[in-house]
Amino acid sequence: MTCVDDFRLILGGRELVPIVIGGMGVDISTAELALEAARLGGIGHISDAMVPTVSDRRFKTSFVKDKLKLHKYNVANSDKSSIRFDLGHLEEATRLHVGRTMDEKRGEGLVFINCMEKLTMNAPKETLRVRLRAALDAGIDGITLAAGLHLGSFALIEDHPRFRHAHIGIIVSSLRALQLFLRKSARSNRLPDYVVVEGPLAGGHLGFGMDWAKYDLASIVTEIASWLKAEGLSIPLIPAGGIFTGSDATAFLEHGAAAIQVATRFTVARECGLPEDVQQEYLKAGEDDIEVNGISPTGYPMRMLKNSPAIGDGIRPNCEAFGYLLDSNGRCDYVDAYNREIAKNPEARKVSVADKTCLCTHMRNFELWTCGHYTYRLKDTTRRLADGSYELLSAEHIFRDYQFSKDGKIALPE
Ligand SMILES: Cc1cc2nc3c(=O)[nH]c(=O)nc-3n(C[C@H](O)[C@H](O)[C@H](O)COP(=O)(O)O)c2cc1C
Repeated sequence: MTCVDDFRLILGGRELVPIVIGGMGVDISTAELALEAARLGGIGHISDAMVPTVSDRRFKTSFVKDKLKLHKYNVANSDKSSIRFDLGHLEEATRLHVGRTMDEKRGEGLVFINCMEKLTMNAPKETLRVRLRAALDAGIDGITLAAGLHLGSFALIEDHPRFRHAHIGIIVSSLRALQLFLRKSARSNRLPDYVVVEGPLAGGHLGFGMDWAKYDLASIVTEIASWLKAEGLSIPLIPAGGIFTGSDATAFLEHGAAAIQVATRFTVARECGLPEDVQQEYLKAGEDDIEVNGISPTGYPMRMLKNSPAIGDGIRPNCEAFGYLLDSNGRCDYVDAYNREIAKNPEARKVSVADKTCLCTHMRNFELWTCGHYTYRLKDTTRRLADGSYELLSAEHIFRDYQFSKDGKIALPE
């Protein structure tokens, strides 16, 4: 019987363990977690979501405070269109986060950065250009383009000296999205080095509508693989979403996948950025405690625990400090929803906003508990302690379980 370790991902002439830990913003996939994946011979992701905020927490910089100071005059204003990011600060924060991580890298594996197009930051093109280029400057091994079609992303970096050397891939959830990306990027004369095919059981935002349950990962992967073959294109495919055991992973590898991308199992790793009390919520969750809803202002459905403090909360928008989701016109669906509730309840000290959430504030504070579909199985991956809580795992334990387990089994901690 085969296991994941019988396979290797070949990328740029390098042989890797075919396990990728997916990016989890905001700093849920920490540098520590990504570095463990690299040390063990696979690929780990850091995320560039809200990177100035992450840099403040990690390196005691003051990017958020400085931005708030500059825009404080606007806090009570319902119009957020004047809130801009300082591109120099954004570049510095990215260089710090990426540079320090790469300095600490050990082992044969790689560290990539997950870069979400939906973080439009009131200047989509300019801010994305800075984030991508600064990550390349700081020596990132690879960039995974996420949460968006990225039709213009190659053009933003095609003159960068590392454009043809760094590994660059994209996450898609349909053949059509991949076809659009390839058509638009053809001008750069460079194919993506890998394609992550993310199905409807993943955590975070979904590349599907609310009818996500009608789709399944294996069929999408097969459709994309057949099309690539017919076109004579050879691009490694990396399925993601709901791959919970080593055997689930092996099944994809046996059918020609180059590697698999996983995340949910690592949300209960000690190296993961979630606070421990939140990790216990993930471990306790039952199947009925998880939902896919439409409260993200990005417009994409998102999967989360139903008891996330963010759901229904009506906090005042914090765009002067954050503002990562302001679109090119300086608008955010949460700001609109909040203003609507305030107009309806002018006397209220606090309002509730049911249909949208302040994603920046709540992701920053670990109050929106996004998770994969199989989060309710996490309790089967560890032991219950005498006080009723669950034992957290090391990233190494989870990684090796994916790498070596067979027969649908999950190894419990020693
Ligand atoms: C807590 C959490 C946060 C996530 N955040 C992001 C993100 O910021 N960007 C992204 O592209 N994918 C994100 N994802 C998706 C993962 O990178 C990954 O592709 C997917 O969850 C894999 O499926 P699995 O969780 O069932 O293993 C997130 C997943 C989880 C569980």
